Amino acid sequence: VIPMSFPEDFKDRVKKINEHLMHSMDVIEDKNLKAAMSHYPSAGGKRLRPLLATMVCEAVGGSWEKALPFGVSLEVIHNFTLVHDDVMDQDDTRRGIKTVHAQWGIAEAILAGDALFARAFEIVSETDADSQKVLRLNTILAKAVRLLAEGQQMDMDFEDAKKITSDDYMKMIERKTAVLYSAAAQGGAIAGGGSEAQEEALFEFGRLIGLGFQIWDDVLDLRSDEKTFGKPVLNDIRNGKKTLIVVSALEDLRGLERKEFLKVLGNKKARLSELRLARDLLEDVGAVEHAVRVANELVAKGKDRLSVLKESPQKKALVEFADYMVTRST
Ligand code: IPE
Ligand code: IPE
Ligand code: MG
Ligand code: MG
Ligand code: MG
Repeated sequence: VIPMSFPEDFKDRVKKINEHLMHSMDVIEDKNLKAAMSHYPSAGGKRLRPLLATMVCEAVGGSWEKALPFGVSLEVIHNFTLVHDDVMDQDDTRRGIKTVHAQWGIAEAILAGDALFARAFEIVSETDADSQKVLRLNTILAKAVRLLAEGQQMDMDFEDAKKITSDDYMKMIERKTAVLYSAAAQGGAIAGGGSEAQEEALFEFGRLIGLGFQIWDDVLDLRSDEKTFGKPVLNDIRNGKKTLIVVSALEDLRGLERKEFLKVLGNKKARLSELRLARDLLEDVGAVEHAVRVANELVAKGKDRLSVLKESPQKKALVEFADYMVTRST
């Protein structure tokens, strides 16, 4: 059967991705390092980036396996950035388990992240694909991580910055988050032998839905619960993150409400009741709904880019993938 609906019909593919992913850790001899490196990969996760790469690969006419090593390397890079991101954001839970630094300490988290990062580049080279393609894929990965670091720097800098605009925010999430989705889609098109026009349009598809994905992640930080989400909620407020939600609320909040909100935003010692109050203020001022609208618009624009693909079940699955970015609960 040809896969049709996302994510239900992609369970077998996720299994294959996971096999490749877990096997890619076999080369690590040191028991402690291997445990820290495998901690997130073995704990689950949606595998959205490898899925996107393989789905695009198919949609341009390749067999999905052609994008498997590249997809796995993206997942390994993603996991490396999560390990370091959790240190930066001081989060104790990820994928429903303890974060790497919470379990082994910051030094181990730095090292495990480094090793995952390096391993990703080996994985993409461990294929029989022609060397020209491998070089291009490796270059895409390197550029994505370089931009991602800039995005993470902006994310941290914005915590203490007073005047952040929605343009600043979009620039930041394009780098910290959307780059892995544009890389997934572009790399998938390359692996599958797509045309240059397809490569370009699919890069843009990945970028746009990746922006929507991050805005939705910010929404879930406010609307989900730790059990469902697998990671702490309301921590973006505690950390003073300048999400689109916060940026637009700061344009609208006035008087006492504004004062109350600013008292909680970025207050590392804020109590749960205070965080909930701040969240309610964001909801009441309409900032969360505004962000949801923006995320949906971005995904809609992204889907327009799929016009470079001929009609097929694979294209339909990509449309569903895009919708999933802003409807997922985890
Ligand atoms: C979490 O990404 C990090 C963000 C960019 C918001 P995912 O939501 O894809 O996390 P996993 O891989 O499913 O755990
Ligand atoms: C995601 O930012 C960006 C990266 C992990 C590179 P977040 O900080 O919002 O991700 P979560 O919410 O911790 O997964
Ligand atoms: Mg972060
Ligand atoms: Mg984080
Ligand atoms: Mg988040």
